[in-house]
Amino acid sequence: DWSMEAYVAEAMQAVQQQVGVSGVVVGAVSGGVDSTVAAVLLSKAIGARFHALFVDNGLLRQDEVDEVMQRLSGRLGVNLRCVDASSRFLQALQGVTDPEQKRKVIGRTFIEVFDAEARRVQAQYLLQGTLYPDVIESVSHKGPSATIKTHHNVGGLPAQMQLQLIEPLRYLFKDEVRQLGRVLGVPAESVGRHPFPGPGLAIRILGDVTPHRLAVLRAADAIFLEELRAADLYHCVGQAFAVLLPCKAVGVMGDCRTYEEVIALRAVETTDYMTADWYPIPYAVLKRMANRIVNEVRGVNRVVYDITSKPPATIEWE
Ligand code: XMP
Repeated sequence: DWSMEAYVAEAMQAVQQQVGVSGVVVGAVSGGVDSTVAAVLLSKAIGARFHALFVDNGLLRQDEVDEVMQRLSGRLGVNLRCVDASSRFLQALQGVTDPEQKRKVIGRTFIEVFDAEARRVQAQYLLQGTLYPDVIESVSHKGPSATIKTHHNVGGLPAQMQLQLIEPLRYLFKDEVRQLGRVLGVPAESVGRHPFPGPGLAIRILGDVTPHRLAVLRAADAIFLEELRAADLYHCVGQAFAVLLPCKAVGVMGDCRTYEEVIALRAVETTDYMTADWYPIPYAVLKRMANRIVNEVRGVNRVVYDITSKPPATIEWE
């Protein structure tokens, strides 16, 4: 008889056995379900010999850094360090507009930052939140869909990093990871969180990623999510976010013509993120969202709603 409590005990023992009494483990956390659950499991198993690293790449959403730090380091007691590498990432992204190039630059920079931390704490082991579907997909995924977008957090272990892998979630499906999280006392906000891509807001800002455009997108996205939650719709969708388009549009304010940024809103229903349907947010809710965004976010004069499903569109715009 299989129970999650028994799985926890077994997984903790397996980690303790693998790393011995003096092994040091390093792992990146993003605040997402998988890395959070894996980090809590490791810190229960080996305490402060697990070093969690949260890389602030400057591409996170409003308040995300504080929320993740408070939850993991404060409430869950994980030995967690936040490295503010935002200027390094933004510098590396200067002038980069091609979506795949953005991913490459961000992936490379992430590895450099992470590698420095692994050396600093003299880790011999690397925690990865690999799930069972990732394991299967990386073995059987030979089709062209594997290269539609390079997801840098899947199998992104740099070759020169001589670290042994620890993958305590590799036999679990997503819903089982959530269940495991609940058993470990991970708060509901983490367990039920929508996925957020590793390259962050960089792939939701079409065109140039600048501090100013990041600020505009962050503000619009925060309003969108706040109103989605207020309408009790956050848990009805698999993902919801704002996108900053690479063009400007004409508008009018008072007696003046304006020429400002356009925000697109996207919300999808999905079970596996391989296919997705656009979600019919009620008109009254959309109206409130759009009104608030154009009134409260300086530099935006138009909001559109994305009504395409996947396929033929993808969930992200880049
Ligand atoms: P698409 O846009 O391909 O996205 O329909 C499917 C899911 O994957 C996420 N996504 C990424 N996640 N790095 C990530 O960690 C990436 O480069 C990346 N690109 C897309 C997307 O948010 C959605 O959940």
